[in-house]
Amino acid sequence: MTKSPYDAIARLYDPWSASVVEDVSFYVDEALAAGGDVVELGVGTGRIAIPTALAGAHVIGVDSSAEMLAVCAERARQAGVGAQLDLRLGDLRRPPVDERVPLVTCPFRAYLHLRDDEERLQALRAARGLLRPGGRLVFDVFTPSREDVEETDGRWLEREPGIEERADWDLRAQTLTLSVRGKDGASSMTLWWIEPERWHSLLAEAGFDVLACYGWFDRRPFAGGEDSVWIAARR
Ligand SMILES: C[S@@+](CC[C@H](N)C(=O)[O-])C[C@H]1O[C@@H](n2cnc3c(N)ncnc32)[C@H](O)[C@@H]1O
Repeated sequence: MTKSPYDAIARLYDPWSASVVEDVSFYVDEALAAGGDVVELGVGTGRIAIPTALAGAHVIGVDSSAEMLAVCAERARQAGVGAQLDLRLGDLRRPPVDERVPLVTCPFRAYLHLRDDEERLQALRAARGLLRPGGRLVFDVFTPSREDVEETDGRWLEREPGIEERADWDLRAQTLTLSVRGKDGASSMTLWWIEPERWHSLLAEAGFDVLACYGWFDRRPFAGGEDSVWIAARR
């Protein structure tokens, strides 16, 4: 596995994302409703996988960062759910998973690490291949607003105490170069965004029916905001 930009910030990731809590109960509820094993693509440090395991589900977590997985394993052990988390180093476009499950998730915008439609389709088809017939893929992504871009572009901003984040937006290429620095690490990574309509078309092309597109984790309907939360069923 090639080095991931997340390796250098594995110890910074949890304090960096400390205020991101709104999606946790949403994904836990989806796991409980699915009533079987969950595959989480881009599982990271287990921010969602650990509460999901604590709620009683078994989670297969895939991530391309060995360091993020190491933190996840440590946290899972501390939480007493080490046995319910099966962590695997691998690429979400070719997940090292033979099991077939009722639910595949890809939380917190991890699909924005895919650079073009070819990679997106590869990833969506791979997710579909992990699902039992009728199983669901649930993920969230964002499409930035002009105001967000204008407010943040090229500036280091304190996101959490002692942790700074900088967004460099390229509106033509639709890329965000996201940098973070703190006492426990620093890194920079590129995210590629697309319009929600495009996600809809790609899901259809990859063999999914879109059951819902929400504008937030409280399940309000998508109404053109920055965030979109997708529930798609294997056709
Ligand atoms: C924003 S973090 C989300 C982590 C976790 N799901 C959460 O909600 O906190 C994105 C994660 O996706 C992983 N990732 C990025 N590209 C990947 C790829 N191609 N295959 C597998 N994992 C990937 C990163 O290593 C990182 O852990």
